[in-house]
Amino acid sequence: MSESDDLFIREDPIFVNKELLEINHLPDEGRIVGRDEEISQLANAVNPGIFGQSPSNVLIYGKTGTGKSLCAKYVSSRLVETADEEGVSAAHAYVDCAQDGTETQAVQTIASSVNTEGTDIYIPDKGISTATYYKRLWTILDEEYDVVLIMLDEIDKLEDDDILMQLSRAGEAGKLTSCKIGVVGISNKIKYKDRMDERVKSSLCEREFVFPPYDASQLNDIMTARSDAFRDGVLDDGVIPRAAALAAREHGDARKAIDILRYAGEIAQSEEAETVREVFITQARERAETDRFRELIRGSTPHSRYVLQALTMLLINSQDGAHEGTENQGFRTTRIYDLYEQICRQEGSDSLSLRRVRDLLKEHAFLDIVEQSRHSGGSAEGSYTEHTLLEDPDVVRDVLADTIE
Ligand SMILES: Nc1ncnc2c1ncn2[C@@H]1O[C@H](COP(=O)(O)OP(=O)(O)O)[C@@H](O)[C@H]1O
Ligand SMILES: [Mg+2]
Repeated sequence: MSESDDLFIREDPIFVNKELLEINHLPDEGRIVGRDEEISQLANAVNPGIFGQSPSNVLIYGKTGTGKSLCAKYVSSRLVETADEEGVSAAHAYVDCAQDGTETQAVQTIASSVNTEGTDIYIPDKGISTATYYKRLWTILDEEYDVVLIMLDEIDKLEDDDILMQLSRAGEAGKLTSCKIGVVGISNKIKYKDRMDERVKSSLCEREFVFPPYDASQLNDIMTARSDAFRDGVLDDGVIPRAAALAAREHGDARKAIDILRYAGEIAQSEEAETVREVFITQARERAETDRFRELIRGSTPHSRYVLQALTMLLINSQDGAHEGTENQGFRTTRIYDLYEQICRQEGSDSLSLRRVRDLLKEHAFLDIVEQSRHSGGSAEGSYTEHTLLEDPDVVRDVLADTIE
């Protein structure tokens, strides 16, 4: 290759603004599509905040990719802006409880995100007691703000309810004298509320909203609003409708729908196709699911994978020959364990105890790969746990086949 030849492609033939389709891209206001009703209800619940009064505490439920985090963040920042125009000093704090799952981590995150240079208060990353973090948090809130909205996302991932108790009672317990706080809890699990302490429940669930999965026409609009990620004319007409129909049928998850669109573009790139074609969608869906799942189990131990393999095989075997209704079938720990032991023998590996396998299943549940449910088997049997695979079993099987060995 001579120096004058271009080693790199200078112009991407497919994408002009690929960020619009990246995982962490937050669409701006004009690009939030199909959630007007939910946004205005949320705004209504926290509305007193703009006058310096207590916002209602809110709990938002809905499956992943239904726009919960997006809408909560959007409404929170609009609240702060509007309060500001009214001469009210407001702020919001965001905690991802999957990341900050302990009480100490969560309160540390809130305190450091509302702290300002004006306070002289120092919020170290670690090294002080939970009680001290709280004390500093209350001081910052009272000194700096009239109103603060605290978003607790993935709230079901919190280790316990302690922080909810503290936040919900801060006013009446006299921890805060002037600042009003509102809590916006967000959960993918509709059953989360059943687990909450009664007192916390009555105070935190003043308003509840359920975000339904998106239908094909909403997904179509969401993707169309991002179609300027692509060069003019490279998206064939049928691509978005096809992806929307597929995503609506399978899950109604906007994040996954956008992923499919991005992958379809990447497939066009790698095949050097001039346009993104409708036929790429099936393959893009497959790739999106596979990559996402591979990422999810990256770093898991061999035994954790054997356990998952056992559950997946049980499901696939029971689906063979069955017609419908087996998608959500759950299996008991002991059945999974039996097959797991067989897999260990095949792999030439000593099996772990039943108790350890239970823990591994719990870890899969934490990552939302598996869902666990308790059943009572009647007086003779006692109660038992069933585990349901939440992922596409074919995807799991293929990824595990690549990684085990
Ligand atoms: N109504 C919407 N309009 C535009 N994009 C959306 C919408 N809902 C979701 N998205 C996209 O999907 C991603 C996932 O949404 P998110 O709010 O994180 O879902 P959830 O919190 O319910 O899992 C967002 O970052 C955004 O890119
Ligand atoms: Mg979310």
